[in-house]
Amino acid sequence: MEDLRRQYGNLPPVDDSDLAENPIDQFKLWFQQATEIESFDWFEPNVMTLATASKSGEVSARIVLLKGVDDDGLIFFTNYDSSKGKQLAENPRAAIVMHWPMLERQVRSEGEVERVSRSYSERYFHSRPRGSQIGAAVSPQSEPIADRQTLEDMAAELERAHANQPIPLPDNWGGFRIKPFRFEFWQGQKNRLHDRFLYEKENGVWGRSRLAP
Ligand SMILES: Cc1cc2nc3c(=O)[nH]c(=O)nc-3n(C[C@H](O)[C@H](O)[C@H](O)COP(=O)(O)O)c2cc1C
Repeated sequence: MEDLRRQYGNLPPVDDSDLAENPIDQFKLWFQQATEIESFDWFEPNVMTLATASKSGEVSARIVLLKGVDDDGLIFFTNYDSSKGKQLAENPRAAIVMHWPMLERQVRSEGEVERVSRSYSERYFHSRPRGSQIGAAVSPQSEPIADRQTLEDMAAELERAHANQPIPLPDNWGGFRIKPFRFEFWQGQKNRLHDRFLYEKENGVWGRSRLAP
């Protein structure tokens, strides 16, 4: 491991004047560039690591898929009764990190978390393949289960119960929106002299500063 080493700096340095005033606009630009360059065969550019914490400060992280960006923030979908769902209910803050290796970029963000509207979750849930809807509906995410067969039986049972009918959106499944108050953009450069820019929201206004790498 110690000798795994790569020189960054394939892309030009980033200057403060290159950046958008609003980090959501900057994020959309970098995300678009990631979708253009990253290979979908082996990499999903919307993969993000999501960190949450309980009220008492136990921290946990896992990967989720970013499924939407709007002026208010970043949206992902999950089971509200899962471990992350419970942590977000008692401590509605989260941090995310995304890594686009081909572009040598990292984006981090931290913010307050809220549930998206039921109509938003409804629309997204029914846009998914039927098998994914069933999988999400039957899985008691983060709970112990006896074996794989139990899951498959629950899926088959739900399919039988709703044959030729839409799968209802479960009450405990839907989206969360992370409303950022901090957003950081990192661009790899030569000799570990990377570029880092931190946006921070104060009194509703975004300011930004360059950070040492
Ligand atoms: C590539 C990838 C994408 C994933 N996307 C999601 C997702 O969008 N939503 C979700 O709830 N879990 C997703 N997972 C599963 C989570 O990483 C995690 O196992 C699950 O949500 C339970 O986490 P928790 O027990 O901390 O709540 C994904 C896993 C991987 C590897």
